[in-house]
Amino acid sequence: MTQDNTGNVHVLPELPYEQNALEPVISAKTIGFHYGKHHQTYVNNLNKLIAGTDLEKKSLEDVVISTYGSADQAGIFNNAAQVWNHTFYWHCLSPKGGGEPPALLKQKIEASFGSFDTFKKKLLNAAVTQFGSGWAWLVLDGDKLKVTRTANADLPLAQNQKPLLTIDVWEHAYYLDYQNRRPDYVQAVLDKLVNWEFVARNLES
Ligand SMILES: [Fe+2]
Repeated sequence: MTQDNTGNVHVLPELPYEQNALEPVISAKTIGFHYGKHHQTYVNNLNKLIAGTDLEKKSLEDVVISTYGSADQAGIFNNAAQVWNHTFYWHCLSPKGGGEPPALLKQKIEASFGSFDTFKKKLLNAAVTQFGSGWAWLVLDGDKLKVTRTANADLPLAQNQKPLLTIDVWEHAYYLDYQNRRPDYVQAVLDKLVNWEFVARNLES
């Protein structure tokens, strides 16, 4: 792994846009806390927890997979998975996002869910019905597209599914902007921010 000049194995990746670029859907204040505090804290905690262990030599994905389901390593898993989830989430969003997916992805979504609108409703429902903190996902499971949800730090990588798109539904993702209105946050993200080019690339890669 590449180390930064402080010797930390993992570093906070750069945001792919300015902190105010997702306004008005997600405020700079939310991004400031979410990226600058929450994501950074997961990185810091992970570095502390793996310091001096063999896990320092593993990639982030390998740390996630190798600690999944281990009660002794739950703290490492939670922080590693949250580092991964947040980096993925930032790339799922774009100031130029929203609208409709590229043709091939749209066709696959229509074949899997009936229509793009039905898919959006299904993802919204997964996001809204996730009890407490977690994530809503579009994943590739074998050769099938599926909408799923995970609790806390859990993620499709650990279940051998390929993540294509996620929406963070922890309260820290929306509470400053939407308070308790999680459905409004998810709907706005789906309509205006999803980076469908990134989602399509994930399907092809
Ligand atoms: Fe988050």
